[in-house]
Amino acid sequence: MCGIIGYTGQKRALPILLEGLRRLEYRGYDSAGVALVDRNGLSVTKAAGRIFVLEQLIDTQLPQTHGIGHTRWATHGAPTDVNAHPHVDATDRIALIHNGIIENNRALRTYLEQQGIEFRSETDTEVLVQLIAHFYDGDLEAAVRRALHDVTGTYGIAVVARDELGVIIAARKGSPLIVGVGKGEHLLASDPAAILAHTTQVVYLDDGEMARITPDELRLTTLDAVPVARGVEEVEWSLEQIELSGYDHFMLKEIFEQPEAIETCLRGRIDLTEGAVRLGGLVDCTRELTRAKRIILTACGTAWHAALVGEYLFEELVRIPTETEYASEFRYRNPIIDDGTVVIAVSQSGETADTLAALAEAKQRGALTLGVVNVVGSTVARESDEGVFLHVGPEIGVASTKAFTGQVAVLAMIACYLGRRKHMSPTAAMQFISALAQIPDQMRRFLKNAEQTEGIAEQYCNRENWLYLGRGYNYPVALEGALKLKEISYIHAEGLPAAEMKHGPIALITKGMPVVVIATAGVQYDKILNNIEEVRTRGGSVIAIATEGDKEIQSMAEHVVYVPDTIEPLQPLLTSIPLQLIAYHAAVKRGCNVDKPRNLAKSVTVE
Ligand code: G6P
Repeated sequence: MCGIIGYTGQKRALPILLEGLRRLEYRGYDSAGVALVDRNGLSVTKAAGRIFVLEQLIDTQLPQTHGIGHTRWATHGAPTDVNAHPHVDATDRIALIHNGIIENNRALRTYLEQQGIEFRSETDTEVLVQLIAHFYDGDLEAAVRRALHDVTGTYGIAVVARDELGVIIAARKGSPLIVGVGKGEHLLASDPAAILAHTTQVVYLDDGEMARITPDELRLTTLDAVPVARGVEEVEWSLEQIELSGYDHFMLKEIFEQPEAIETCLRGRIDLTEGAVRLGGLVDCTRELTRAKRIILTACGTAWHAALVGEYLFEELVRIPTETEYASEFRYRNPIIDDGTVVIAVSQSGETADTLAALAEAKQRGALTLGVVNVVGSTVARESDEGVFLHVGPEIGVASTKAFTGQVAVLAMIACYLGRRKHMSPTAAMQFISALAQIPDQMRRFLKNAEQTEGIAEQYCNRENWLYLGRGYNYPVALEGALKLKEISYIHAEGLPAAEMKHGPIALITKGMPVVVIATAGVQYDKILNNIEEVRTRGGSVIAIATEGDKEIQSMAEHVVYVPDTIEPLQPLLTSIPLQLIAYHAAVKRGCNVDKPRNLAKSVTVE
């Protein structure tokens, strides 16, 4: 939700911090700030608003070679200048930036106020910096360690002290941090995107660990000062992947990246000659997986919609009872997990707090856990027993697009991998894999002629209520289409299993109401035509997503968007794309900030 960047080395820190903040802005964009350190002391600048507001306030020629920066997405305390990070202690010696929540901040504040310390803000973060200063006697690392022992809550922090030039102390509990390793310099970030321009060599911090970082040295310890040895890893993302490269928005870029992204996701994993799926991440648990009695998929938001497609895939291909649970609900409902329950956490970021909590609950109750995750090194990836990465590249747009199709593609591969070991015949597996292999080219073909979606968006973007209907595998796509529209264009939209419409929502349909119906070829095609008829009878305007070659539907819908033909279980990989584009164009036409939608965060790290 918030972003952290730090630099200590020989170069001027400010440009590196500001550039890092711009790259992190997709994670939080209601306020930002930096703290720079040199022999003259601490220099802190912070402001409510986007990074450019901060840039206007600061002398960009400042020479310091040591500093930290933060971009905030408010959870506690309004997005004001005062509440922005860094926070500085009452004696102006220590500055701190923080992702997470200090849960016992009230008790700590009362204690510190009794010691005569005066607070400047209402934030939990200021409490932490005051507490560190309270214990500080010239050794920042020791003071942070001491303070964190009194803290309950979650944090990723970076701390600097006026009198410890070149030193950044970082600590992590529940909020990701990585150290970038350069020549004579180190960087600190909550996300590889922030430092990729400078290094791809990183060291991941685990929960309960601290780092003392200087230009030449990185020292990792546990919170209890036990040294930790950890190797340097290579980040697989490239700089180009996190730049706009000529696109107006990251969301649009990521929609158009889907053919390559899914190609990379499938590469080396599907074997067309043998009709086999190979998933290295599942080798060690294949036996346990095939013996599973029940699979629970857990996720939030778009990932939850992908998981729902996964439920249909697993039940059809693997024939193991599967259910999809909102991570936030799973955790608190005393879930039944017995021998033979497998819990699969699906997440782009691998840092969503609710998903992490569900994963922890599942582990604690003894389930075998898998992660279906995009970000390598993320907490879900590290905490789950086994897993499969999406490999769709970094997703910067807050509205998830290529991660959705990546999640569906991975779940489809897992379903085929397990299905083949249970009931799926070699011929069925071969057909499935051949269809999957064609998806990237089919996506490419669709995207080459997708202008029609812009016209549809233009025609209906002023209608404030939309319905999305789908059946079977396209029911989750209807949910996802509605979510995309809500997220970025602020139009109210509801996604439904098409047949459910007549049990209530049909009352909403009035003349000209846009109703997007996913009506691709399949066993329920005739039924969905009936649903279209029900909409038309009430005056609704039908936007149908149909299979290429389907002429019948033309007389039944105001608009028909054709997608290439594929087998039903894989249709979501194609039918979701026109819905992403309709939402995108509607948002642009309404003048909305597509990549930074109001009130939303890319990665929601609070429950
Ligand atoms: C946030 C994002 C959504 C995303 C959800 C789950 O709400 O705005 O786009 O689907 O979190 O994120 P994850 O990283 O776990 O897939």
